[in-house]
Amino acid sequence: MRTPLIAGNWKMHLSLAEARALAAAVAGVAAACPDREVMIAPPYTALAAVREVAGERLILAGQNVCWEEKGAFTGEISPLMLRELGCRMVIVGHSERRHIFHEDNRMINRRLRGALRQGLIPILCIGETLAERDSAKTMEVLDQQVREGLDQVSLSDPARLVIAYEPVWAIGTGKTAGTDQAQEAHVFVRRLLAALYEKNIAAGIRILYGGSVNPANVDELMAQADIDGALVGGASLSAESFERVIRFA
Ligand code: PGA
Repeated sequence: MRTPLIAGNWKMHLSLAEARALAAAVAGVAAACPDREVMIAPPYTALAAVREVAGERLILAGQNVCWEEKGAFTGEISPLMLRELGCRMVIVGHSERRHIFHEDNRMINRRLRGALRQGLIPILCIGETLAERDSAKTMEVLDQQVREGLDQVSLSDPARLVIAYEPVWAIGTGKTAGTDQAQEAHVFVRRLLAALYEKNIAAGIRILYGGSVNPANVDELMAQADIDGALVGGASLSAESFERVIRFA
């Protein structure tokens, strides 16, 4: 009942020409894999170009979003602007936003609610640092990120929200959480969701795993019962490796 979602986060990479070519290739793969959803989050400046080649099945997403529709918010992007460029989803609370740009749970919650208000599906990223894991604080951190991130968020359709569990120590490092470790965190997050929402809603929300997902580890990760997809950075930047991730067994 949870359609797998493979999401590529391009971060601050690729020229316009490279973005267009990669999106065209990914759109072809998405069209050939009707049983799974495929999303990419290009840099904002590439969205218009990518949209021209994205076709019907490739979902476009923003990498972040402001809670306001318009106004004096230098450097921010409005949910309406993302919608206008064809985005259906948006990443919020990515660990790079949290740790490099100091976005806290309260701000991330405002972004998430702003996205929902305008009909964008937010992907709420959560995850512990290595220091937090080493001091046995993982579950505490996830609990706080989920509760505060979803503060005042009501949900009548589980497809309107996606969670991405991304242990910070696994992002861009080549280290992946063990499949048991990942599955354990996903089960914990799903229990948190069950405390916040009705049973059938909590059971229907997709929880992606992220952090060095690649062609070599995607099959094993996707075989876990509560891993419903992947948020992929590095391996989403080449058509070949992202295709293999999308075509997980
Ligand atoms: P990575 O990035 O796949 O390069 O580790 C994942 C992410 O930042 O979402």
